[in-house]
Amino acid sequence: MSRHVGILTGGGDAPGLNAVIRAVVKSGVGQKRWLLTGVEDAFDGLIARPMRLKRLVPRSCGGLLQRGGTILGTTNRGDPFAWKDGRDHAADVGRELERLGIEGLIVIGGDGTMRIAERLMREHGVNVLGVPKTIDNDLGATDQTFGFLSAVDCVCDALDRLHTTAESHDRCIVVEVMGRDAGFIALHGGIAGGADVILLPELPWNIDRIRAKLEQRRQLGRPFSLIVVAESARPEGGESSAGNAGQLVVDALRRAEPELDIRMTVLGHLQRGGSPNAFDRVLATRFGVAAVELVQEGRWGHMVALRNGNIVGVPLAEAVRQNRTVDLGGELVATARAVGVELGG
Ligand code: F6P
Repeated sequence: MSRHVGILTGGGDAPGLNAVIRAVVKSGVGQKRWLLTGVEDAFDGLIARPMRLKRLVPRSCGGLLQRGGTILGTTNRGDPFAWKDGRDHAADVGRELERLGIEGLIVIGGDGTMRIAERLMREHGVNVLGVPKTIDNDLGATDQTFGFLSAVDCVCDALDRLHTTAESHDRCIVVEVMGRDAGFIALHGGIAGGADVILLPELPWNIDRIRAKLEQRRQLGRPFSLIVVAESARPEGGESSAGNAGQLVVDALRRAEPELDIRMTVLGHLQRGGSPNAFDRVLATRFGVAAVELVQEGRWGHMVALRNGNIVGVPLAEAVRQNRTVDLGGELVATARAVGVELGG
C-alpha cells in the first residue's frame, strides 16, 4: 500500500515555500508513489469544519518553483494547543490524521511552528518531520533558512534605488528592515547595498556615533547617507522599539540636527513577497528532497538542516532549543566595520 503523508506550511510566509512543496511532490509522489495530502492554513485545515485538505500530485506543480507565498496558505494564529476558539485541539489533529490514514506530517515553518510540531509528537505521538523556513535566518539548528537571501536581495535592491535619490538630494535616508530579534537581514542587506550605518537589535545604538559618521561623510564630500535599521534595533538605555525602530532613529537625528534633510522607508512585507532567488530555490528543493528521504527512512521527529554545506537531519527537540542572533565578535561584523560601516555602538 502507498505511504500516505500530509504536508503543511505554518507561520509567516517566505519565498521558497512552494519550491519545497514542489520538491516533496515530485520526489515523494512522482518517484516514491506516495499519496500526499496538503493541509491548508497550517494546522487549521485539520481542525476547522469542514476540513481543508487537497491531494497534491505532480500535475499541481506547474510554475511552483518560482512562485512566492504558499499554495497551501498559512497562518501564525493556528496553534492547535490554543486554537482561536479558546480550546486545545491537539488531540484532534492526531485523531484526524489516523482517521485519514495519514502516517505523519511534513511541517514547513519557523521556530513557532517547529515548537508546535515537537509538542504534537511528544504529547500526542503525531509523526512530524520539520523543514525550516524564515526570512529572518534566526533558527539555530540550520546554517541557513530558505527565504533569507531573497529578503536580502530585496533590501539590496531597495538600497540601490534609494542610493541614487539620496545622492541627488544630499539626503539621509533611513531604511527599516525586518528580522524580528535578529539582525541578519539588516547586516547582509546593508553590506550588500553599501549602507553607511547599520543598526542591529544585538547592538544598541548611540546617536553621537551615527552623527559622527554622517559628519565624516560630509567632510569627504559625501553629504548623503543610507542608514539601515533592523526592526528591533534600539537606542542605548532604551527599550526595544516594537515597530518603530526606524522612526526612533529619525526622531533622534531630527532633534540633534534640525537642518538635516531626512526621509524614511519601511520595506515591510516587500521583503517577504515575490519569487525566491536562485539560491533559495535550490535550498528549498534540497530541503524538500531530504524531507522525503527522512520519511522514507522512518526518521520522523527530525528537521532537515543545512550544516557546513550538507543537508542533515537534526532531532526536532534539538532544533527548537535556541534561536540565533548576529555574532558581534564574528567575521561579518568585522568585515562591515573594515569597509567603514558604522554599527552605532
Ligand atoms: O518572521 C518573519 C517576519 O517577517 C519578521 O521579520 C517580522 O517581524 C514578522 O514576521 C512580521 O509578521 P507579520 O507578517 O505577522 O506582521
